[in-house]
Amino acid sequence: MRRLVAETRLHPAELILPMFVREGASEAIPVGSMPGVVQHSLDSFKAALADAAAAGIGGVNLFGVPEHHDATGSGATDPDGILNVAAAIARQEVGDALVIQTDLCLDEFTDHGHCGVLDADGRVDNDATLVRYAEMAVAQAAAGAHLVAPSGMMDGQVAVIREALDAAGFADTGILAYSAKYASAFYGPFREAVDSQLQGDRRTYQQDPANRREGLREATLDLAEGADIVMVKPAMAYLDVLADVAAVSDVPVWAYQVSGEYAMVEAAAANGWIDRDRAILETLTGIRRAGADAVLTYWAVEAATRLLDR
Ligand code: PBG
Repeated sequence: MRRLVAETRLHPAELILPMFVREGASEAIPVGSMPGVVQHSLDSFKAALADAAAAGIGGVNLFGVPEHHDATGSGATDPDGILNVAAAIARQEVGDALVIQTDLCLDEFTDHGHCGVLDADGRVDNDATLVRYAEMAVAQAAAGAHLVAPSGMMDGQVAVIREALDAAGFADTGILAYSAKYASAFYGPFREAVDSQLQGDRRTYQQDPANRREGLREATLDLAEGADIVMVKPAMAYLDVLADVAAVSDVPVWAYQVSGEYAMVEAAAANGWIDRDRAILETLTGIRRAGADAVLTYWAVEAATRLLDR
């Protein structure tokens, strides 16, 4: 009876796996703060893509870990840059089975670790960054991304990316907009996963956790600029924002269950303090119940496999 009357269901197709691909790695390198998550070599990446496709998840969301960083993040727009190479491999290997998504942000590629380029005073320059994002979007679409995923929270980024993609002949490449992205402590383990160079914080461009209405405003702006999907991030501490966005959005609404959310459950489970398997599906169910049509989660493949077994 409970199964029959359940209001919310999880399905593998609604799960998206974030993946890290490290330039120059000869084998997968574990991320210490995220047990079970690795920085992939190209070989381990291909194997993991095949596993993800076999599990029937909806897509993969790719992050590059480059060997070299510079002020403008030039690796981000280089066709031979690690993220563009990874996107091309993913498109080739599993592009018919999975939606290939690329993180569209400069932080993995800059030597200061910020999501944009800096002005003479060392502050993130919103409009100069938009120029780089436009170039990055075209590079990622050319590499084979189905969806580009701007995560840098620059004002106007969705409109600029849409225009650049259309002008370059990539009208079919979609935009997954990180719309309401909060300046969160829960990104901590991710910084290890991408060898982040960040000094300082992102509070001049990511949102204040205190603000709910502002999250809805950001999503509404992205919808007007042409976002194909809007996203709220992190997930669990922002379910109210997620519900607000889901109530007004006329495009799919996704949520990102971030590294710190993953690490909390894994750490508690490792201590025997929590029933890991139940906790994982409960968090995903809660995020779906609050309004997410799909969820980015580091447990995507494991959860999908367990759902298929039920
Ligand atoms: C920025 C980006 C971040 C995450 C995804 N994209 C880090 C940040 O904004 O500081 C975090 C994801 C996670 O914590 O799992 N490119």
